[in-house]
Amino acid sequence: MIEFAPIRIPVIRRLQTLAVSHFVFCFLFFAAVSTLVTVYLTLFTSYWPFTTLYFVYLFFDRNTPESGGRRSTWIRNWRLWKWMSDYFPCTLHKTVDLDPTRNYIFGIHPHGVLCVGSFTHFSTNGSNFDHIFPGFKSYLTMLPFWFKTPFFRDYAMTGGLVPSSKKAIQHIITRPKGGNICCIIPGGAPESLNARPGDVVLILKNRIGFLKMAVTNGVPLVPVFSFGDHALWEQKPNPPGSFIRRFQDSSQKWTQVALPMFHARGIFQYNYGLMPYRRSVHTVVGEPIEIVQRSNPTSEELLQLQELYISRLRDMFEAHKSKYLPDDCKLIIN
Ligand SMILES: *[C@@H]1O[C@H](CO)[C@@H](O)[C@H](O)[C@H]1NC(C)=O
Repeated sequence: MIEFAPIRIPVIRRLQTLAVSHFVFCFLFFAAVSTLVTVYLTLFTSYWPFTTLYFVYLFFDRNTPESGGRRSTWIRNWRLWKWMSDYFPCTLHKTVDLDPTRNYIFGIHPHGVLCVGSFTHFSTNGSNFDHIFPGFKSYLTMLPFWFKTPFFRDYAMTGGLVPSSKKAIQHIITRPKGGNICCIIPGGAPESLNARPGDVVLILKNRIGFLKMAVTNGVPLVPVFSFGDHALWEQKPNPPGSFIRRFQDSSQKWTQVALPMFHARGIFQYNYGLMPYRRSVHTVVGEPIEIVQRSNPTSEELLQLQELYISRLRDMFEAHKSKYLPDDCKLIIN
């Protein structure tokens, strides 16, 4: 039985659905569509002078993503993002005040299928980031691959998205006046393959890079837990060793892009489709871990820091889970 959405829905809920479908479209198809259209216009039509001009611009703009990108306060403040945030709704919780004369690294967990919480809070002002963290600019990191795609890269940069490369991260966390937050999702795309209602499964034990960035630059590290982000879509079972998982692992290896087989609901009915469920996401920003700067940390020192980081993350999870997640939900860290 297909369960249709009622015909009479308040306009505001329709706008929220519109905003989320725009987000899902952008992250799934924008890059592919804009690449195909650009190639087509260049090779097969008389519009090639326009796309050629764009390529010239790309050439001169090639270093922008790794030097802080190109934020747009206007776009970050679009009403669209407030609607998107209110669809779930997404709420940002601060546990302590941060010092706007310093820079910080946020480690955000879990990735979820499409990083809804991280994007809403840290790439837009949809959940009021600018008010909750006054004096800060947040930059969310994304696979460098996406910054090679025409037009999508420009749109992504308006939200403060930057590549998850060492150079791009360093550019942000070493700015002298402070007030910058570099948001890293250490689990990355592979963690999206674990996102489904139920337990939260993180990939963290072999993620040393972000810890090393914090130590070599002496930047405080803040664990962030996004409660509910893992449960917004269903995902086909893909246990390690299964056919689906082996396919996903090899496609990931060759293209960097993970292919989670997810579904939840549609725009006009509640049974099939790529739209997420309307379920709340509560993102808790923890206390900073102070870091002593060291140019060449040993792997032992990094493992010690990792132990501390994971214990802080577990404490945060235990402290807040009863408010935001079902009772039997466990945190599994791989
Ligand atoms: C961010 O959104 C809030 C409302 O949610 C608004 O009060 C605030 O002015 C916005 N920030 C900026 C910088 O416009």
